[in-house]
Amino acid sequence: MAQEDIFKKLVAHCKEYGYVFQSSEIYDGLSAVYDYGQYGVELKNNIKKYWWDSMVLLHENVVGLDSAIFMHPTIWKASGHVDAFNDPLIDNKDSKKRYRADVLIEEQLAKTEEKINKEIAKAQKRFGDAFDEKQFRETNPRVLSNQQKYDELHARFAKALNDNDLAELKQIIVDQEIVCPVSGSRNWTDVRQFNLMFSTEMGSTAEGASKIFLRPETAQGIFVNYLNVQKSGRMKIPFGIAQIGKAFRNEIVARQFIFRMREFEQMEMQFFVRPGTELDWFEKWKTSRMKWHQALGFGEENYRFHEHEKLAHYANAAVDVEFKFPFGFKEVEGIHSRTDFDLAQHEKYSGKKIRYFDPELNESYVPYVVETSIGVDRMFLQVISAAYCEEELEKDSRVVLKLPPVLAPIKLAVLPLIKKDGLPEKAREIINNLKFDFNCQYDEKDSIGKRYRRQDAIGTPFCVTVDHQTSQDNTVTIRYRDSMEQERVTISELGKIIGEKVNMRRLFEKL
Ligand code: GAP
Repeated sequence: MAQEDIFKKLVAHCKEYGYVFQSSEIYDGLSAVYDYGQYGVELKNNIKKYWWDSMVLLHENVVGLDSAIFMHPTIWKASGHVDAFNDPLIDNKDSKKRYRADVLIEEQLAKTEEKINKEIAKAQKRFGDAFDEKQFRETNPRVLSNQQKYDELHARFAKALNDNDLAELKQIIVDQEIVCPVSGSRNWTDVRQFNLMFSTEMGSTAEGASKIFLRPETAQGIFVNYLNVQKSGRMKIPFGIAQIGKAFRNEIVARQFIFRMREFEQMEMQFFVRPGTELDWFEKWKTSRMKWHQALGFGEENYRFHEHEKLAHYANAAVDVEFKFPFGFKEVEGIHSRTDFDLAQHEKYSGKKIRYFDPELNESYVPYVVETSIGVDRMFLQVISAAYCEEELEKDSRVVLKLPPVLAPIKLAVLPLIKKDGLPEKAREIINNLKFDFNCQYDEKDSIGKRYRRQDAIGTPFCVTVDHQTSQDNTVTIRYRDSMEQERVTISELGKIIGEKVNMRRLFEKL
């Protein structure tokens, strides 16, 4: 099945099984805004816990923060967001649709890359074990010609971005004969810059309301609290401040479900270091964050680092962690070496000294910062797309979410075989005992087979069936989601069997 079709099914599955709903659906929805349903919110909370504990629990020099969404408007002037938090936009005059010029070109690059990959996959199939990819890349005329096209376009695109050359971006779109996916025409406007921040008013008009912004990143809340945390926590450099919270961006290209939203959540950590050591810390956090992703077991081949085409004006190094979504490799997380830009800017605009006295050097300086920034919603999409699986079985088929058990919303379902003979009561007794440790679900409706399928679709790693034998010897059947194997165990063993698989410690030990 084409990846596109799988993605459509995944989106439908998320709705049908209470993971993600379109916001304001009964009013025809609000574009690029989503709500998380009963299972979605549990998965999201588990992802956040995995991130938070890996930062704050496992690093004695990383502490948490929860800063407000509303902040003084000068913060956004100082950070550069008022003047430079822009996307280059282009409109198609026939369809009246608006696009990000850089995304149109990136998609063109991805198409060329796809052609190369297809050639390689075909050859791999043909030659089997004898296939030498390096040699094939260096000698096959079609691959060489596409690689040359890719490299030329890539270099031109990177230069246009770095020079902020909007006319050149348009010229690339024209030269590449990129068409509007809706109208199919090449009737484009010029490229313009568009600021992504949402604004609102604070205070009544009588008092003189002031324009404030909804934060487009949580990071600035950390920067402006740097001194508060450093002093009150007597933190010594190097140290980090971690925060999870909502961010808002008026995104123009709002496609691909929860990949790009207008209201989303970020998990950000700013690590304050001595100037001159930032590139070492950048490398350390790069390695550490990749391990965090790969510990979930979705396959190392599905991750890669992507160096930025254009470094932001404040950064001296930046890399993205990309995951292979059904629509290709895309950014999940950014790791940025932000120099002392943000703190120095806040020093300048606030007029307050934001320094660290380093007792080892016996001098004060503005710390440098290495940032790790990941979207909760993108991480959610990573997890759910890696977990979604359609399996053909001997007699029928099933859709199963092979979620890592530690992240699964429901850890176990307890199912009485029939609705009488004291079996429901026994099932409730098991839940009442285990509910303090695990999120449990009781289900007595439909045949046992249908109930297993329902739990597979939700991603519940364990189903426990209570039958007549249970009343005699206190044993139950435990069924494992992925293998569908069943075994007979005593009720008293359940806590241990499940606990071993769903304890986050298992993930943390891999980091
Ligand atoms: N403080 C740095 C910063 O915000 P970013 O690369 O703009 O950097 C970091 O964003 C992460 O936030 C991204 O890697 C992505 O996971 C997430 N993110 C950004 N914009 C998003 C959007 N519109 N919808 C969902 N997630 C988004």
